[in-house]
Amino acid sequence: MAIESVLQENRVFDPPADLVKNAAVPGMEAYKALCAEADKDYEGYWARLAKEHLVWKQPFTKTLNEANYPFYKWFEDGKLNVSYNCLDKNVDAGLGDKVALIFEADDGKVTRVTYKELLAKTCQFANALKARGVKKGDRVVIYLPMSVEGIVAMQACARIGAIHSVVFGGFSAQSIRDRVNDAGAVAIITADEQCRGGKAIPLKPAVDEAIGLGGCESIKTVFVYQRTGGACNMVAGRDITWADAVAGQATTCEPEWVEAEHPLFLLYTSGSTGKPKGVQHSSGGYLLHAILTTKWTFDLKANDVFWCTADIGWVTGHTYITYGPLACGGTEIVFEGVPTYPDAGRFWKMIQDHKATIFYTAPTAIRSLIKAADTNPAVAPKNYDLSSLRILGSVGEPINPEAWMWYYNNVGGGKCPIMDTFWQTETGGHMITPLPGVTPLVPGSCTLPFPGIQATIVDETGTEVDWGKGGFLVVKKPWPSMIRTIWGDPDRFKKSYYPEDLGGKLYLAGDGAVRDAKNGYFTIMGRIDDVLNVSGHRMGTMEIESALVSNPKVAEAAVVGRPDDLTGEAICAFVVLKGARPNGDEAKKVVKELQDWVGKEIGPIAKPKDIRFGENLPKTRSGKIMRRLLRSLAKGEEITQDVSTLENPAILDQLKQAAG
Ligand code: WTA
Repeated sequence: MAIESVLQENRVFDPPADLVKNAAVPGMEAYKALCAEADKDYEGYWARLAKEHLVWKQPFTKTLNEANYPFYKWFEDGKLNVSYNCLDKNVDAGLGDKVALIFEADDGKVTRVTYKELLAKTCQFANALKARGVKKGDRVVIYLPMSVEGIVAMQACARIGAIHSVVFGGFSAQSIRDRVNDAGAVAIITADEQCRGGKAIPLKPAVDEAIGLGGCESIKTVFVYQRTGGACNMVAGRDITWADAVAGQATTCEPEWVEAEHPLFLLYTSGSTGKPKGVQHSSGGYLLHAILTTKWTFDLKANDVFWCTADIGWVTGHTYITYGPLACGGTEIVFEGVPTYPDAGRFWKMIQDHKATIFYTAPTAIRSLIKAADTNPAVAPKNYDLSSLRILGSVGEPINPEAWMWYYNNVGGGKCPIMDTFWQTETGGHMITPLPGVTPLVPGSCTLPFPGIQATIVDETGTEVDWGKGGFLVVKKPWPSMIRTIWGDPDRFKKSYYPEDLGGKLYLAGDGAVRDAKNGYFTIMGRIDDVLNVSGHRMGTMEIESALVSNPKVAEAAVVGRPDDLTGEAICAFVVLKGARPNGDEAKKVVKELQDWVGKEIGPIAKPKDIRFGENLPKTRSGKIMRRLLRSLAKGEEITQDVSTLENPAILDQLKQAAG
């Protein structure tokens, strides 16, 4: 394996003494005891936790069913309801008047929603869904901005056993269409517009366009939350406003008690081949891990104000906004806007205003705020009172040690441990992460597996490698919140995550990793497949290539990533046009045209930053595109690799020049 860690990091930050004493997992011995319990009796460990942390309508008697591996089943004869576990449970426990959500709108307006109110809103909307014929097992696409309604919509689906599939508000009509079509959704919940950075951006037209593309015949209802009240096309008989839908609906709704394995949601994410895949999660196992990780990784307590800055369109927003913190009875901030509006001090001002105690964000946000603070000292964190903070978190991509140190010193005041949480859409919750009262921190390392998660590193035959050696990150045993299948494509699930090359019983994460030779700490080295990580968002190179090739001007395209200071990776496309290779202003024009095209096909986040034109692409004699060469070209590196298998070496010079 060519993957070797280049990181030489000797700084170690011990957990603060008060955290060691009072944390949910109090100290390294407590952590080791949990790991030992799981080692000794794996099923018993998870069964104990599932009994302690979930409310079951019908208790389970069977913990893990491995008969049809890798289609594992957890707690299969148990019945529960996820929305009951997030809302009713807390109201019944006397938390009805506790603030569940502190919603801050783009313009700064703050709305507080108590558990009692959130339950009533969820029930009302659940009844509205039922009134439109939505029932258990139906798929519902949610295309909403960050809002109280977004969380209510997800919880309402969970309440009636409908399977939600949230589509990020930045995705295009084509992406909505593909997801609706793949899932066979019966309803879409959307908004007229979304407000971001002082602008109102239409959402509903993308839904209309998606349906207009054809293939969405399963859709019977479109619910439209009027966020701004802006003009918006309503199709008679199909479309209904949120207000009309809930008018007259009761504020109580008996939960649908579902089997633990009943799908809670699908979330489409990029893989290395083909179209995005619908990752299917369960109700019982997923919620268990959402609760455990919220309690243990973030040490969420009754008085905490938790803030996860993710969007509900991504898995982080599912687990650490809609489900985890609510199921723990926490108070959390939900933010509609962007970190740079009205200025790049917005996050720090919100932490100060709401006295946030736990703050969970992405390295890309941190890097852009470092840059903003460097250029405009007025928006630096030191201008704000951030003393309420006690724990920080990072997610989505490796955090480079410099950004880690800045976050630690400038945001955390040198006293808040940073939880660098490694996980994936497929894993449902944290897999490898420090715990605040347990783990001495090393910048750039996600440290050790969450108790009960059997992570390790193997070579290409599936054999474990020694500490200090790089390899593939795998998980040896199934865990409750794991992906159950890819919606409609069980074969792809098996091939992608349980490849036969590795023996068929190891979960392959798709990342390269290495363990520190001395302490066994994990460092993630990035994807081993053709998946890019742009600002913490997963993008398949194949998907972008397909989008480019669908443009009538394009004959062939290859997409690779290159390192970028701000976004982690940037998308770089090498394109062969059907006509002549353009130059100068003409090339610039076509670059812009193709960028916009990809923006329209997939969404603005997928727009290639660089596009270069060649008369051909570097290929082997057997016709395979040599991506490693393209990666070097994208980085601006000298080509030192062996090019003897290259059919057309002259092409490299042509592609060295950037076009746009
Ligand atoms: C990457 C996001 C390093 C990794 C929760 C993974 C990370 C992919 C980290 C999943 C981290 C996520 N350190 N890399 N702490 N967290 N990744 O599905 O490559 O959007 O496979 O889930 O992000 O991205 P996804």
